[in-house]
Amino acid sequence: MKIIVVGTGFVGLPHAAVLAEAGHEVHAYDIDPNKIAAYKSGERSKIEYYVNEPGLYEAIQETHGRYLFFTESISDLIEEADIFFMCINTPPNRDGSTNLLYYLNAAHELAELLAKRETKDRIVLVNKSTVPVGTARQLEQILSEHGVPNFGVASNPEFLAQGNAINGSRRPDRVVVGADTEEDFQLLRRAYSQFVNHVRIKYVETTPETAEAIKYMGNTLLLTYISFWNGVGARVAESLPNVRMEDLKLGVTADNRISTWGSYVSNGAGGSCFGKDIQSLIYQLNQSGCSTDLLQAVYNINEYQKTYMIDRAVHEKGFNFNQKIVTILGLAFKKRTNDMRDSAALKAVEALLSKGVKEIRAYDPLAMQAAQEYWFNPEKNHLFERITYHETAQEALRGSDAVYISTDWEEFRGLSRTIDKSVKPPYLIIDGRRMIPDYQTLVEKGYDFLAVGGPLLTPENISPHSNNGIVAETVPELETQS
Ligand code: UGA
Repeated sequence: MKIIVVGTGFVGLPHAAVLAEAGHEVHAYDIDPNKIAAYKSGERSKIEYYVNEPGLYEAIQETHGRYLFFTESISDLIEEADIFFMCINTPPNRDGSTNLLYYLNAAHELAELLAKRETKDRIVLVNKSTVPVGTARQLEQILSEHGVPNFGVASNPEFLAQGNAINGSRRPDRVVVGADTEEDFQLLRRAYSQFVNHVRIKYVETTPETAEAIKYMGNTLLLTYISFWNGVGARVAESLPNVRMEDLKLGVTADNRISTWGSYVSNGAGGSCFGKDIQSLIYQLNQSGCSTDLLQAVYNINEYQKTYMIDRAVHEKGFNFNQKIVTILGLAFKKRTNDMRDSAALKAVEALLSKGVKEIRAYDPLAMQAAQEYWFNPEKNHLFERITYHETAQEALRGSDAVYISTDWEEFRGLSRTIDKSVKPPYLIIDGRRMIPDYQTLVEKGYDFLAVGGPLLTPENISPHSNNGIVAETVPELETQS
């Protein structure tokens, strides 16, 4: 099949590469010519500057020039194309609604082009972006208004997690296709022939609106589950006596009906999707006059969690952040990415600055450049000048009064072995990811230790007979989703 992918970001580029691997002739187009030039160059660093996903570069290398092509213009391709995949970013508006400006602009431009099509063959425009329920119908209207002949619209949301986009595209849990006619379903079945009738992949065919809703339901349910562990599970282990977080998690998730994914407690879920999607669903339901109490509570719990550990340090330890130097380890929203969108670190830094800290010493293995692009902007907030950037965790720790672990990078698990080379007690360690297994060593050395999902531990209150809510030796490999 001849397929055109419009939009070559995190969704479009891996999608185009994997369709090309399946033997389709795929032309990837982007409104930004710099991106196309970077992809055409075939250079790893240039490609990864835009989308950094394991296996992506290799997939492009394998298919580029044979099945996968990058193009600055699609006007010459429209006659023979069978399918257009729209992979356009849909950022949030201030009121939580979805900003469809880029999406609708692209739809109008495409409609103008497609109206000139002379062939009688059917073409299907498939939406992969996360868009409000009813957007495919809006697209249909735009195409009709422009007089596009013989077209169909479909909704085919993506369910990829960052860091796993290529694997996830090659072997998804499910493929959801919403369309109106058998002809359009058939075209999509040809595009996804490797997934249709696959024994482990659910291939769901439904209405465009249901497909759009499945994406919102999926993401808000995942966030609800994470928020249950953060808002209830962590609180139980922090405040009720002698409850061990790891055992609690193990025992509860032993029930086959309950997921282990989402059960690791943290300083809140971030990223470009969860917060944006739940707000958009709240907005859509409110517009329809529905009450959204549960969703609103989930959203609030998750947002609160991002600064909650800082509040705990004040209330439980009596830590006064004013004029203190605080190290923050991990800035991206999760490990193995440099993406800082909606990262818990952003809120934590703002909370620390509002408490009057003198300096924030920041370190992340991958996100330093992204962090500087975000914070090196005194217009946003002049207090951001108090953030300094460091090349290693050791370096970032030097001279500080407290450390806050914000992202679940594996390297931070070894903190207890190295911390005393940089800072001496009295010193507060705040573990927002509950990832330091041998915390006891730290407390024995005199450090104060506060982890999400456990009580405050100090050299004064730690008892040799109690594990104080944390299991030192049997902490399982930190389970994270990627
Ligand atoms: C998420 C969903 O997992 C995907 O299914 C969905 O397709 C995607 O959004 C999207 O809509 O595009 P992603 O944002 O890449 O994917 O990241 P996740 O790995 O799901 O993590 C989200 C956040 O939740 C991270 O901050 C992570 O650290 C946090 N998290 C995850 C927890 O705090 N606890 C957990 O147990 C799991």
